[in-house]
Amino acid sequence: MARVLTGIQSSGRQHLGNILGAIRPAIEMSKDPKNEAFLFIADLHSLTTVKDADVRKANLLATAAAWLACGLDPDKVVFYAQSHLPECTELTWYLNCFTPYPMLANAHSFKDKSDKLSDVNAGLFDYPVLMASDILLYDAQIVPVGKDQKQHLEITRDLASSFNHKYGETFVLPESKISESVMTIPGTDGRKMSKSYGNVVDVFLPKRQLKKQIMSIQTDSAPLEDPKNTETCNVFALYKLLGTEAQITELAAKYSSGNFGYGHAKTALLELILDEFGEAREKFDHYMANPDEVMSALKVGATKARPVAAATLSRIRSRLGF
Ligand code: ADP
Ligand code: TRP
Repeated sequence: MARVLTGIQSSGRQHLGNILGAIRPAIEMSKDPKNEAFLFIADLHSLTTVKDADVRKANLLATAAAWLACGLDPDKVVFYAQSHLPECTELTWYLNCFTPYPMLANAHSFKDKSDKLSDVNAGLFDYPVLMASDILLYDAQIVPVGKDQKQHLEITRDLASSFNHKYGETFVLPESKISESVMTIPGTDGRKMSKSYGNVVDVFLPKRQLKKQIMSIQTDSAPLEDPKNTETCNVFALYKLLGTEAQITELAAKYSSGNFGYGHAKTALLELILDEFGEAREKFDHYMANPDEVMSALKVGATKARPVAAATLSRIRSRLGF
């Protein structure tokens, strides 16, 4: 049995890129009986950028609701909010005192963020250590993450192994699992779909708003009668991700025959999304209307995670003489 752990930032509502790139693969992984899955919402990390309490609460709810709506089973997965287990902030302090300053100063994500953001706070600088605590606190063995998180995993392993070297076996050394196969889902403007580019498809929106988002997908100005190019079309790119082989072939034939406009293609995409996510949309609305249900699922998860965290912390406190 391998303990697999991953965290999701609650920086806003989850879009189609998050669902196909992170949520579905993690839920699939959690269904493997060989794994014991810990999935948590990294809401403490969000404090580096989000300062508004109401926004944070809303993001936690919407993120948890999206995961549950996409099929996460809280009875099988240890599903919790990072902030419900303040043990990880205690571990962060201990690890901080073993983290060489240049290791954080040279981290790519810190360099990128400190170039872009006006509020460059110490939390942003310390982000990788909080992440190392998330992982080491629960003795995680496998940590599935995107390519952008690879360096954070290397930092985690470095911190764990230098601590073990100094104090004897204390931490489990986690392996990262970088999913090269997960493709980058394009947004409505053809760039990577991202909250920060404002180019998302939010499949949980009410139908009218979702339609507006789909209709805003950028296309070229080929006239209606002309055949259209599937290779360069943003609408087709999204359709291809969700459609069956037969549906994709049928749409491709319409593109090449002409007299098929982008409006028609967008309508086809909207219908496909409503079909594919029909059940998830209903569940999402249910959870958003019943936040207590979501919060109680997270509380149950915290109850399962707490004894693991407590055991690790007591091991470390005794190593350090506290
Ligand atoms: P955003 O760019 O919208 O802020 P995050 O950085 O919070 O998204 O990403 C959360 C998770 O979703 C990460 O695992 C990331 O790899 C995945 N993800 C985000 N956008 C995409 C995308 N366009 N295609 C594939 N995966 C994505
Ligand atoms: N930093 C990760 C991201 O932005 C989220 C995260 C926080 C995480 N703690 C973690 C991922 C621990 C894996 C393990 O995507």
